[in-house]
Parts: sequence; structure tokens; C-alpha cells
Amino acid sequence: MSRPPAHDPAHFRKVLGSYPTGVTIVTAMDEGRPVGLAVGTFTSVSLDPPLVAFLPDRKSRSWPAIEKAGVFCANVVGDHQEHVCAVFASKLEDKFAEVEWEPSPSTGSPMIAGCVAWLDCRVEVVHEAGDHWIVIGRVTELDVANDDAGPLLFFKGGYGRFSP
Ligand SMILES: Cc1cc2nc3c(=O)[nH]c(=O)nc-3n(C[C@H](O)[C@H](O)[C@H](O)COP(=O)(O)O)c2cc1C
Repeated sequence: MSRPPAHDPAHFRKVLGSYPTGVTIVTAMDEGRPVGLAVGTFTSVSLDPPLVAFLPDRKSRSWPAIEKAGVFCANVVGDHQEHVCAVFASKLEDKFAEVEWEPSPSTGSPMIAGCVAWLDCRVEVVHEAGDHWIVIGRVTELDVANDDAGPLLFFKGGYGRFSP
């Protein structure tokens, strides 16, 4: 049976979509204006020093503002927040219009109410990676915010929840 080549975008998306991810909203302040985007690429990188990473698309409108800020807050989205995820996965002009948030303790980036956990970070290094960037962040402060909430998961193009 013939298999589509690795450079076939539909095939690449289908295969990578069979790897489940959580959803994180990466936020920052841009000259007093909150900005942010939903990502499935957030991951833990290193314990010592404490490093995390996410991969913004080169077409992301929020990333240049986050890069300019030099700091960000990664908000782990709960399974009760699919509507919040949809807002931050959109190109809406003001994604924070209907979202409750407060400044994070260490970087002052938006911490979104109801999220499972948050990680305050400083941009450590940015690597080029095809049509994305690999952003490494040094964690300055972090906590679990909502221990009762499960994570929102993304798998095969749809949302779901975790059950042990
Ligand atoms: C589950 C999920 C995961 C996503 N993961 C990423 C990602 O890792 N990187 C990225 O740049 N966009 C990702 N997106 C798409 C962005 O959220 C979307 O393009 C958004 O409009 C970007 O907003 P911006 O242009 O304000 O940066 C994801 C969307 C969803 C729904």
C-alpha cells in the first residue's frame, strides 16, 4: 500500500494529530495591552535550570509582542475552559474582552482565572525551526492554581478530558 510522503501537509497533520497534547495559553503584556495565544506545543524541558518551551507559528500575531515583552505566563487550560481555548486560538482583536485575569506575581503577565496551573517565565532563547520558532523559557515562579480541574486535551482534531 502506498503511503503519502512526509511533506504531505494533510498526512503530517493527521499523524501528528494522533499524538494527544494538553492546551496552554501563553500570555504577555504589550505596552499595557494583554496578548496571548493557545498552544499545544508547551512542554517541560529542564529541571536544573528550570526550563520550559513552546513553539509559536511564524504567522502568530501574538508572538512578536510576547518576544518584545521578553517574559510570558503559560496558563494550563482546564477541561471546563474549551470556550476560553477557542478565543485564544482565534484572531480576535481583543481576546481578553470576556476573560477574567490578573497580573502574574513575577512577570506581570496575564494569569487567566480558572486555569489548572500557571508558570511565569523569562524568554531564555529562541531557535528557528521551519515554519515555527522554538521558544525556551526560564521559569521564575509557578504554581498549581486549580487542583480540582482536569486538563483540556486535544486529540485527532477534537477536545476531550482525561480520565485515569
Ligand atoms: C489545540 C490547539 C493547539 C495549538 N497549538 C499551537 C502551537 O503550538 N503554536 C501555534 O503557533 N499555534 C497553535 N495553535 C493555533 C493558534 O492558537 C492560532 O493560530 C491563534 O489564532 C494564534 O493567535 P495569534 O495570531 O494571536 O498568535 C493551536 C490551536 C489549538 C486549538
